[in-house]
Amino acid sequence: MDELQELEKIRQDGLAALSHVADEAALEAWRVAHLGRNAPVMQVFSRLGQAPKELRPKIGQVANQVKQELEAAFQERATALKQAALQRALTAERLDVTLPGRRPARGRLHPATQNLRRILSILGEMGFQVYTSREVELDEYNFQLLNIPPHHPAREMQDTFYVESPQTDGSYSVVLRTHTSPGQIRAMREFSATNPDNPPPIRVALPGMCFRYEQITARSEVQFNQVEGLVVGRHITFSDLKGTLSDFVRRMFGQNTRTRFRSDYFPFTEPSAEMDVECFVCGGKGCAVCKKSGWLEILGCGMVHPTVLQNGGYDPRKYSGFAFGMGPERQIMLRHKINDIRYFWGNDLRFLEQF
Ligand code: DAH
Repeated sequence: MDELQELEKIRQDGLAALSHVADEAALEAWRVAHLGRNAPVMQVFSRLGQAPKELRPKIGQVANQVKQELEAAFQERATALKQAALQRALTAERLDVTLPGRRPARGRLHPATQNLRRILSILGEMGFQVYTSREVELDEYNFQLLNIPPHHPAREMQDTFYVESPQTDGSYSVVLRTHTSPGQIRAMREFSATNPDNPPPIRVALPGMCFRYEQITARSEVQFNQVEGLVVGRHITFSDLKGTLSDFVRRMFGQNTRTRFRSDYFPFTEPSAEMDVECFVCGGKGCAVCKKSGWLEILGCGMVHPTVLQNGGYDPRKYSGFAFGMGPERQIMLRHKINDIRYFWGNDLRFLEQF
């Protein structure tokens, strides 16, 4: 067979093989086989020197044509394959603009905030106004004006974060509030300043974060919320305290919730009490949450101590009042049987997303 016939065969074989190429990998294999360094058409070029001299121009010219034809066919095939791939992708990945969008994950209120708001809305319905006091307090307001003098043992119940270095007398003057009670003094002073001779009655709810220098364990945290209530006016009695708190608890935990009061001690109230509600987990029958007692301790309360009224600018001979303080996180823990307080400020979404 002479080289010209050979070239015709190379051309036909190449084009025939190309017509079976269906993807990019096969196309590349074809390119190596038919246009690569050892491809038949390339070998014709290498053999050119051996051909009779007068045939060489003709063979060289035809070989070039065949090579160019194969290259053009290769390009065409490559373009067609790319086009087909694009077509497939467009069909497969078609964007259906009529599909509903994917909702972005929605945030929610922290369980402590949810419960805080619930408490405040109930107290609001009962005529309390919200009074937000400061988190960084003077020792004077956090302790002294609440009848807790510098060396009073009651300070030991509230291990304190001191913000400043000690004064010359060894005392500290700025603290992170250990409870919301100093807000009582701030509210009373603000109200009484409007009319010092005849200060107006007060009914306020004081919510917010409190801080104690505690070892962090399942039962104690260095920060927690409290909601404090304060009512001051003329002829406010202990029965007002009992009636108001019983009503609050029924709105909070259900109309049939039973309550009981036990005497207690706080320096800023006299007399003082703890209020229990019937365990809302077992209905009073006794369970692990109420430690088989049927009762849950829910808040501290009492009649505002005369000295505290005085410190707030209210004459204790004319005015009386009651106060109470509760921990919203504790209520959530009891209600949902949460056994570790550290979940609250641990920022673990697995916990937070359940509320
Ligand atoms: N301040 C108290 C505490 O943090 C709670 C408390 C008890 C507040 C009795 C009151 C009250 O207003 O009357 O432990």
